[in-house]
Amino acid sequence: MSDKPRILVTRRHLAEIEARLNNDYEIVLNEDDHTMSPDEIIAAADGVDALFVCVTEPLNGDTISALPDSVLAILTLSVGTDHIDLKAAEKRGLAVLTTPGAVTAATAEVGMLLMLGASRRAHESSDHLRAGKWDLWTPTQFVGVEITGKPLGIFGMGRIGRTVAKRARGFDMAVHYRNRNRLASDLEDGAVYFNDLDGFLAASEFLVLCAPSTPETQGFINDDTIAQLPDGAIIVNIARGDLVDDDALIAALKSGKLAAAGLDVFNGEPANVDRRYFELPNVFMVPHIGSAAREARTGMGMMLLDGFEALRAGEPVPNRVV
Ligand code: DGY
Repeated sequence: MSDKPRILVTRRHLAEIEARLNNDYEIVLNEDDHTMSPDEIIAAADGVDALFVCVTEPLNGDTISALPDSVLAILTLSVGTDHIDLKAAEKRGLAVLTTPGAVTAATAEVGMLLMLGASRRAHESSDHLRAGKWDLWTPTQFVGVEITGKPLGIFGMGRIGRTVAKRARGFDMAVHYRNRNRLASDLEDGAVYFNDLDGFLAASEFLVLCAPSTPETQGFINDDTIAQLPDGAIIVNIARGDLVDDDALIAALKSGKLAAAGLDVFNGEPANVDRRYFELPNVFMVPHIGSAAREARTGMGMMLLDGFEALRAGEPVPNRVV
């Protein structure tokens, strides 16, 4: 057995990441990339120093407390940590490392993609074309709305929210935001902070969700908050599915209260996404691809391994959350 650190890698990764993993570590690899059950993870973690996981591996308190003593760290290929019981990890003395910053540009791009796709009816129009139904150009066909110059509300003004704001300014959008705390003015960069939720919602012709999933943000989009949005508003979710009450969103998309939605994340994803979304022409949706860009996914993996090396060396670990 080599004296390299051992890492359980629960999913397959881009070639650069797997090359570094293979080169620098003793790897227990989930070769066929299936979703590992908690019991499988616990068994496969025997003798490893770290777990290299994704959002597809929920690590709840029971799983964490059943991990072998050899495990010192959880490296998650995500900025979100809602799949990990951080308190349980802390109690066990495990370090948890994430990928802040590495996902920012890619996820903000998907925010823009969804805003544009939803407002310009990309799903309906491209489906029409691909189905071979396009036989006539008409002035009234697939008429959406411009995002240019519109008011944009950003819910959650962390790295991703601020980057969406920056990109949106390129479209002359007027940005306002809600956040746990008001930002310093250099970070606000002209965005208007709303202390009151009602005012924030009433001003949001476009609303992009960028906040993490927490007990405070879960269910943020519901009948009451939707009612306060302007008629014909467009909602985009690049955060987590559970910020949205699906019944409320679907009802508003059907009634026309909301013009459209752009969704990257879903309750019950991937297998149990609410199928009613699939029937709605005014939903432009993609399967949780926010960070699915070569640059982001490579940067995320490298950040985790750099952090793990710093941890082993007893150095400060900037991407350690626990
Ligand atoms: C994240 O970073 O949390 C994404 O949702 C998954 O990579």
